Amino acid sequence: MPGLDALIAPLTREAFFDRHLGREHLISTVDAALPGWPAFNHALERATVEDRRRFGFSRERDVEFDPDDIWLRNGGLALHKLRARIRDGHTFIFNSFNLHCGAFSALERDIHDLFAESVNVNCYLSVRPRIGFGPHWDDHDVFAIQLEGRKYWALYGFTDAAPLDRERCTPLPDGAKPVWEGFLEKGQCLYIPRGCWHSAVSTGSPSLHAACSLNGVTGADVLEWLAACARDHPALRAMLRPGPPGHGDHARAAREICDFLTRQATPDVIERFLKDRAMQAEPRQIAGLPDALIAPQTVSDGVEIHYFGPAQPEIWRDGEQLVCVIGGVEVRFAPACRDALCRLAEHGGAPFAALRDAAPQAHVSDVAELAEALERAGAAVMLPGSLTGVDAAQ
Ligand SMILES: [Fe+2]
Repeated sequence: MPGLDALIAPLTREAFFDRHLGREHLISTVDAALPGWPAFNHALERATVEDRRRFGFSRERDVEFDPDDIWLRNGGLALHKLRARIRDGHTFIFNSFNLHCGAFSALERDIHDLFAESVNVNCYLSVRPRIGFGPHWDDHDVFAIQLEGRKYWALYGFTDAAPLDRERCTPLPDGAKPVWEGFLEKGQCLYIPRGCWHSAVSTGSPSLHAACSLNGVTGADVLEWLAACARDHPALRAMLRPGPPGHGDHARAAREICDFLTRQATPDVIERFLKDRAMQAEPRQIAGLPDALIAPQTVSDGVEIHYFGPAQPEIWRDGEQLVCVIGGVEVRFAPACRDALCRLAEHGGAPFAALRDAAPQAHVSDVAELAEALERAGAAVMLPGSLTGVDAAQ
């Protein structure tokens, strides 16, 4: 399964971000192997009633999740009932399919690195030419990848710019004409920005598509972050006394708010927000088995360290130590180890010996402590010799 670049090719990321992200749909042909019927069958045959909230059906705009009647007494999925429902005109929905299929890991990694966001992949399987959802818009961007068969799509554009709230959005006028309609064939990808009205219908032959969701950052997110920061200030936490308009306490609070915004809403506010978000984002999780279980307990030259934190961690000095925060966890280390961390972050992994070389002024025990602190923070895993376990996991 491809990463982001294969979904937008031949555009570069810069061109895609400039012309399409949040603005304009894009149709591309994915020049990479995609998961198809075998991977989907494999996931269905192993699904159990524990996964029930991930499954649903839609038909003629009715959507039903967590259906009761598709389970066997042993907890397995009653696939004959599933097939009957689909033959009967339902669209079968398999949410979070990426948790059941490792083929989306490159895309997950790209989106995590670029947006500090996780990707959710929902799959839609249908055969009859019946409306599943009808025209609607999603509150996140979507890469719809046709995995098998074909589907007929219609895009109607926007009725509101970058909408977030379905309750307050302008409805699609009756008789609205599509801005684009056509078939999405196996191996094609359709990017649909948030808020763009769309509908899809099968054509009478089995169709399976994956909808990969992308939640980006908005200016409103930055303001929410500032509001959370405001709660660190006692003057802004204080209750406002009731009284006539403009009385002394209200005037004092208004001044406090203005002062806070003057200090905080500076031209670098977006960068500060993104840095904080990168520090709080949970590192990607890699099992690294079985190698990680047999790595030496003491960090030494026989160990390789694989790193999952931000590529450019924010580092600052606190007394005698340097500090960075990964996944909300503080990592403290000796100042002479700064270049070792930068090397690790830049390359995503390195033999311990290379880390020592990157920080020649540092004592070897300080470099080892840095590696151990990263592992305790969940941002690194130690592997013996080579990165085979991690490579296999990716
Ligand atoms: Fe949709």
